[in-house]
Amino acid sequence: MAKAKTTFFCKNCGFESSKWLGKCPACGEWNTFVEEIVSKPAGKQKGYGGEKHKSKPAPVHVISSEKEERIDTRSDELNRVLGGGLVPGSVVLIGGEPGIGKSTLLLQMALSLDGTRILYVSGEESNRQIKMRADRVGINNPECYILNETFTGEIFKHIEELKPAMVIIDSIQTLYTDMLDSSAGSISQIRETAAELQRFAKTSNIPVLLIGHITKDGSLAGPKLLEHMVDTVIQFEGDRHYGFRILRTIKNRFGSASELGIFEMQSGGLREVSNPSEILLSQRDEMVSGVAIAAMIEGQRPMLVETQALVSTAAYGTPQRSATGFDLRRMNMLLAVLEKRSGIRLSNKDVFLNIAGGIRVDDPAIDLAVVAAIISSSEDMPVDNNICFAGEVGLSGEIRAISRIEPRILEAEKLGFEKIMISRYNLKGIDKKRMNIEIVPVNKIQDVAERLV
Ligand code: TYD
Ligand code: MG
Repeated sequence: MAKAKTTFFCKNCGFESSKWLGKCPACGEWNTFVEEIVSKPAGKQKGYGGEKHKSKPAPVHVISSEKEERIDTRSDELNRVLGGGLVPGSVVLIGGEPGIGKSTLLLQMALSLDGTRILYVSGEESNRQIKMRADRVGINNPECYILNETFTGEIFKHIEELKPAMVIIDSIQTLYTDMLDSSAGSISQIRETAAELQRFAKTSNIPVLLIGHITKDGSLAGPKLLEHMVDTVIQFEGDRHYGFRILRTIKNRFGSASELGIFEMQSGGLREVSNPSEILLSQRDEMVSGVAIAAMIEGQRPMLVETQALVSTAAYGTPQRSATGFDLRRMNMLLAVLEKRSGIRLSNKDVFLNIAGGIRVDDPAIDLAVVAAIISSSEDMPVDNNICFAGEVGLSGEIRAISRIEPRILEAEKLGFEKIMISRYNLKGIDKKRMNIEIVPVNKIQDVAERLV
């Protein structure tokens, strides 16, 4: 009998090698190689001079340039993250930690698309479990079919019979194809089943939504390759202790890759949060030190978030520095700038920083609020709760201009703030007459400290 053909794969990035390696040459990770059986049916000649072609080249001017039509998912937040709705024939991967609500999100979408025929394939849960979830969500779509199956050959047969307008797979890690001998969830199976689904979506023009699990370090379980194969990757994240869930675009061939959708997990399913500032600004009746509001932008949407800092004398030798929702290295840089340029002593202080609501912020415009919160906590002096901040801090302590200042100011005004502190260099682009809010321009980090007193 012929020996089964095996190959080694890197668990992290999907790199393939004929022998085991200690360190992956592609991604540099150690000890990530696993052996897998990859015998494909022999005989079929591939490559140049093989089969007769099925595809045909077309001159670019002949290809129709109609606007890509979109399927409305009946959820504004989901539509936004997808770039304006689901594109027919696209493959969307939704990643997230176990229990975050991926199944709920897609089942809820399937049930709200009343009259659209949808096949929901689950390899994880029994029909009864899914039915219980559907009852909790409390909406019904008589055309939503549930299938308990993990073999792709069987799934494609059902699709042919049922002719759904959309296919949901929960989850890609449970599928297997008989093209390979390795077990479901292995890297080669994930790769192959995803490729089959990708081919299916492209030839049939039926969109496929895949659920994918995420490993502890935050990457999608299975090769990074999966992210390259699909059209759109969105991540569902949030702290399990908060009810809020954030849907974030990571990659999108059909739209912006920096969109954000916000949901709240309730007892009857996910609710859309259309005004995020309200939840991101926590209890603001009392003025406490160490709190400053930032006017940030995620994707296309301005929103106000609360940054909280706690500065206290280090109890032990080495001061502790910790940041939640904000890059720790950037916080350390801001602390160094503060110390050097404004003379506030921080080197022997513990500093804790938190972005309220459990969200993660990359927008550099939040720097100014972080600095204000740190100064406020360090001096134990509350920041006026009618002011918010938008500006980037440079290494020499200058407050730099940021992009799209107007929508931020308008959002602050809408939420009833009386003042907004911004970089002096941002003043040029603003039509002050339109704004009903006092603009406080600052130049250097020293000015911030002075203005706060
Ligand atoms: P689930 O969609 O099963 O998560 P995933 O598919 O990402 O693993 O969601 C699981 C959590 O959501 C579970 O802890 C229960 C909670 N939940 C609610 O709070 N309300 C609801 O209406 C539903 C359906 C689930
Ligand atoms: Mg699930």
